[in-house]
Amino acid sequence: MEIIIQPDATAATRLAAQLISAAIRNKPDLVLGLATGRTMEGVYTLLAAMHKKEGLDFSRVTTFNLDEYIGLPADSPYSYHYYMHTRLFSRVNINLANTHIPDGTAPDIDEECRRYERQIKSCGGIDLQLLGLGQAGHIGFNEPLSALLSRTRAKALTPLTLEQNRPLFKGAPMPTRAITVGIGTILESRRCLMLVTGRDKAVVLAKALEGPITSMISASALQLHPHCTVIVDEEAAANLQEREYYRWIFSTEPEWEPYR
Ligand code: GLP
Repeated sequence: MEIIIQPDATAATRLAAQLISAAIRNKPDLVLGLATGRTMEGVYTLLAAMHKKEGLDFSRVTTFNLDEYIGLPADSPYSYHYYMHTRLFSRVNINLANTHIPDGTAPDIDEECRRYERQIKSCGGIDLQLLGLGQAGHIGFNEPLSALLSRTRAKALTPLTLEQNRPLFKGAPMPTRAITVGIGTILESRRCLMLVTGRDKAVVLAKALEGPITSMISASALQLHPHCTVIVDEEAAANLQEREYYRWIFSTEPEWEPYR
């Protein structure tokens, strides 16, 4: 695991966008796993700007989103379909046929989950998986007690997650379940890139990166991944015991090509 500490959220977000853009330039038919949430909003704004100003080309990129609320149609302003279309897909030259998000309105949710897994496989697997971190320690919606080898499936959202995401629903009824790509599925991605910013995440981030690997904090499973980079700002890094070591190793032996 590589941990890159940036001075603030703006710098951390910029670095995440730069690394994604470098990955697309390096492999124009990249299979990119996408995350949602407030942390990712700035990343998508920057990627859209890179498309507009620098011609970052999404025409051959394939995407798979991590999750979607069960019961929300794609045109609901609270769905992750809507989030992705407004923040990224409508602002770059991606082929919509190559974008994938679980269907939270599928009549048979279990079959939808199996179909999603098959689709990821048929595209050759995820090259680069972008991840955020929920207050409950989740990646995707892999809530506490998610099996570390889990596959795409439906999960009940914990009270903490409901509390964290409720403000985004602005008073509208919030679904209590979601489809999420599993932790086992995430661990099969060839590379993972987690972006975490803000003081609110400091305690859970330290548990995920420096605590034991446990199904109670699904992000801790990333310690098993052979190519995982975590970009954090100073606020989110505040509770990390080994901050100075992470700075030293990044300056000595960076894993990402642009830094070598
Ligand atoms: C949701 C998503 C997660 C995301 C998390 C963080 O729960 N399912 O994939 O990482 O939000 O959200 P935020 O960036 O708003 O803190």
